[in-house]
Amino acid sequence: MAEQTERVKTYIQGFDEAMQGGIPKGHLVLVSGTAGSMKSSMCFNILYNEALNGQTGLYVSLEQSYESLYKHFINMGLKLDNINVQSIKDLSKIDEVVNSAKTVDKGSIIIADMGCIRKEIKDIRVGDNKSWLNVIKNIAKKIKMETNCSLFVLDSLSALYTLSRFENPRVELFYIFEFLRDMSLTTYLISEMPLDGRKYSDYGIEDYLADGIIHLRLTPFRRNVVREISVVKMRATDCNNDVFSLEFKSGQFQALYGGQNPLL
Ligand SMILES: Nc1ncnc2c1ncn2[C@@H]1O[C@H](COP(=O)(O)OP(=O)(O)O)[C@@H](O)[C@H]1O
Ligand SMILES: [Mg+2]
Repeated sequence: MAEQTERVKTYIQGFDEAMQGGIPKGHLVLVSGTAGSMKSSMCFNILYNEALNGQTGLYVSLEQSYESLYKHFINMGLKLDNINVQSIKDLSKIDEVVNSAKTVDKGSIIIADMGCIRKEIKDIRVGDNKSWLNVIKNIAKKIKMETNCSLFVLDSLSALYTLSRFENPRVELFYIFEFLRDMSLTTYLISEMPLDGRKYSDYGIEDYLADGIIHLRLTPFRRNVVREISVVKMRATDCNNDVFSLEFKSGQFQALYGGQNPLL
């Protein structure tokens, strides 16, 4: 039977081919990896390329400021002038940002800088475990309802755990995933792995709650370090689980040498 599923590309040459063209639309995917393995870059690059096609994506950053992200992507050679990049640093600015995404004739990336928002609402109830999550949920709901937003990145799930200590993580995570699924956005949940990590996520249950897992890593090879990427799981997809070398050259991610020894 012909392949019917609509897919969102990862925009990594050679990697989309390993999963029938990309991630099924509306999937919730864990992007797991150690620090510096280019999780943020890969996810932002998806939003960037989708924005070049006129789509809107929301990038919620709990780790890095808007400025730091912006500098990094300019340095990577992404032409951010070709899309509409907006930041939410202050909740009172959401309407302005939504308006800009609605009226501009380019695709948009809306970056919610949670570090700034956190300072802004420090006085209101940050001590409350649930409030953080609610702030993020409300931003996502509003943007989803009022723009043509189709993609959502949470950078990172691990930072969210640090901010909102869960009393009962299994139950609370289940409801977070339910909420995200109900939003019907293609969602990328970034998960920081410890260097010796055998787990893709902090509690382990995210692995089976998620529809897909993409694993990025930095692997020492003699005295070099190679970047690697693989699909651990992708529901509704016939995927190649080989490990590929990941390279970023001339503004393009590439997955190479799947299943072979790296050519060093
Ligand atoms: N062309 C490039 N421009 C900037 N950084 C690059 C480039 N290629 C590779 N990098 C590396 O990307 C890494 C940061 O990627 P990032 O997406 O922030 O990682 P993560 O989110 O997994 O911690 C840095 O260590 C940097 O050296
Ligand atoms: Mg990052």
